[in-house]
Amino acid sequence: MTLQEIYQAFEERNNAAELGGGAKAIEKQKEAGKLTARERIKLLLDDDTFVEIDKFVLHESQNYGMQEKRIPGDGVVSGYGKIDGRLVYIYAYDFTVFGGSLGRSNAHKIVKVQKLALKNGAPVIALNDSGGARIQEGVASLSGYSDIFYQNIKASGVVPQISAILGPCAGGACYSPALTDFIFMVKDKSNMFVTGPDVVKTVTHETLTKEELGGASVHATKSGVAHFVGNDEEETLMMIRELLSFLPSNNMEDPPLVPTKDSIVRESPELQKLIPDDTNLPYDIKKLIEEVADENYFFEIMSQFAQNIVIGFARLGGRSVGIVANQPAYLAGVLDIDASDKAARFIRFCDSFDIPLVTFVDVPGFLPGRDQEHNGIIRHGAKIVYAYAEATVPKITLITRKAYGGAYIVMSSKESGADVNFAYPNAEIAVMGAAGAVNILYRSSNEAERQHAVDEYSELFSNPYRAAEKGYIDEIILPRYTRSKLILALEMTANKTESNPPKKHGNMPL
Ligand code: HXC
Repeated sequence: MTLQEIYQAFEERNNAAELGGGAKAIEKQKEAGKLTARERIKLLLDDDTFVEIDKFVLHESQNYGMQEKRIPGDGVVSGYGKIDGRLVYIYAYDFTVFGGSLGRSNAHKIVKVQKLALKNGAPVIALNDSGGARIQEGVASLSGYSDIFYQNIKASGVVPQISAILGPCAGGACYSPALTDFIFMVKDKSNMFVTGPDVVKTVTHETLTKEELGGASVHATKSGVAHFVGNDEEETLMMIRELLSFLPSNNMEDPPLVPTKDSIVRESPELQKLIPDDTNLPYDIKKLIEEVADENYFFEIMSQFAQNIVIGFARLGGRSVGIVANQPAYLAGVLDIDASDKAARFIRFCDSFDIPLVTFVDVPGFLPGRDQEHNGIIRHGAKIVYAYAEATVPKITLITRKAYGGAYIVMSSKESGADVNFAYPNAEIAVMGAAGAVNILYRSSNEAERQHAVDEYSELFSNPYRAAEKGYIDEIILPRYTRSKLILALEMTANKTESNPPKKHGNMPL
């Protein structure tokens, strides 16, 4: 063969490899309303930045006539590229090849990318669309999953790991996404379950569709497995790009600084009227977050799960911050099991990647009741206080209204290690509300005495001054100055260095 013929043969092989399972399988993928693995990567990454590796990898299975069916790349497209000019590693299951199922060979490809990401300090993005373990390969496939999970765990807290579920994700395959930091799903198009509808029917006699069992809506609202849901694949992939804009590439780097034209001393007169005079009336904490954030932009995470607590990223003076806020507009902002889990994991993520925490507190306490107690609110609630106390990033707290009881302590109080604690003049910082306190202290008093006691307790404790007298609150501020006060506090703590005592790792309540 001449050199030219060799080059041409290579190009033909290359083009064939890029067709994955072939034209017919691609057509089926389209009919299912899904993009191909390569289309997804192209959409996600900056133009012309994708470098594919292991394009010609083949499986070595000899069972079920598999030796006759060897497709270059073996059902996973992997490599690296850029998002907003920054390096990322990526792998995408190709459903057109054996249903994107995982075998020993394509698991090696994934592990190679994971190891490169860890070594070179850049995020890993997994695009899932797979029938799970490749049935023809038996235990070799399970070994492949084990290797992937192992790398997920080694990389946890070192590089951000992101999973998008763009089709089925069944069985043990769910655990790699579950071990990553963020899971994205597509509305009505993707699903995740450990055991599928058929097994469920056999074991529990429940009849459920895939969507009912593990669709995006279930995982975004009920299970708390999914962090983001896009309306379609394109929107989902764009959300991944956006998320990465808030994150550093690894735990040794600072998050990107995004210069803003939004003045750091911008005042917010409307915040003076956000909180109702009647302390029992709700207001939307997201309005406050959006008002103080750069360009009024808040990137919310898990917006439909445990809505009594709000988490997400924003920028203040160009710096990424993780926001944790009680939501008085949902269940009065009470803390419950799901809210505790949601907040604690997010706090730990931010701490892992050096993203300062800004906490807005308006919390009447922990949700009482048998359901919560029996399901372990003690165990789950402990996670928030653990996560805040363990976090060594700058921690800024603002009490906007109520901070009662244990909920005061856990929501980034001074005593749990916060660096700067603000309160609005209307803040109520006490063991409990005045009516509750009087019910206990003046149980046998008459109505007039009780009313007097309520007034007295309110006067004494339903304000921020007792806490400020003791230095638990550093500064009482007017709502209109919130943005500049937060930014100044972040600037003041920007070079914070603090570390926990040397240990293998703590034993967080799980
Ligand atoms: C090998 C598979 C496969 C698998 C699908 N295919 N799943 N091949 N191993 N796990 C193949 C199909 O045979 C078919 O091949 C092609 O992929 C497309 O699949 P379809 O069924 O035609 O597609 P669709 O109707 O869209 O259904 C998709 C699906 C279904 C819901 C994912 O294929 C399915 O239920 N697959 C099995 C899911 C499963 O039980 N996986 C194992 C889970 S246990 P042809 O040649 O016909 O095109 C597990 C353990 C891991 O993962 C544990 C790790 C710790």
